[in-house]
Amino acid sequence: MFYPQVPLVMSVSHEGRVTAMPVVSYASVSDSPPMVAVSCLKGGFTCRLALKARSFSLCILDRTHAGAVAKLGSTSGSAVKDKLAVAGLKHRKGSVLGVPVIVGSVASLECELRSRRGIGDHVLLISEVMAARAAGSFIQYWDFAKYAPILYVGWKDGLATFPGA
Ligand SMILES: Cc1cc2nc3c(=O)[nH]c(=O)nc-3n(C[C@H](O)[C@H](O)[C@H](O)COP(=O)(O)O)c2cc1C
Repeated sequence: MFYPQVPLVMSVSHEGRVTAMPVVSYASVSDSPPMVAVSCLKGGFTCRLALKARSFSLCILDRTHAGAVAKLGSTSGSAVKDKLAVAGLKHRKGSVLGVPVIVGSVASLECELRSRRGIGDHVLLISEVMAARAAGSFIQYWDFAKYAPILYVGWKDGLATFPGA
């Protein structure tokens, strides 16, 4: 009932492994300092690696990358060295933290874990935003003539979007 939602891709690197997953359970929870919270299923590979690394990036990808987002959301990073590469996405190191930032993303946040809190079957990762960047399609507000967001409406034999992909 909360959909549509714009997914973010949470990416982590730790001890030579790179993994990532789309998330829609996120929120901006403080302006000063800037903090975001992400809710991750307990025991998930990307979640566990983020808890070890204590840092991650959150990237926004536009509609042209819906296929890669679907791949990240339907496979596990546990069996591969670089899940972003397997999904066809290149990454570079963040400007402040060593987190993987997806090349071609329209915006990215570099986040440092400040606290965690178990909530039911999920764990809430509460993080401070240490760096943020956005493409030219964002100047105070998104220019939707230049940026077509992925509007996720659920998983129906694949990643379903509005309007239909
Ligand atoms: C659009 C989308 C949004 C998702 N949002 C979340 C989320 O907010 N939290 C979560 O734990 N899983 C979420 N998932 C599921 C994970 O992305 C998925 O289980 C992923 O394959 C986990 O990867 P991992 O095994 O490498 O950790 C979402 C999936 C999709 C497709």
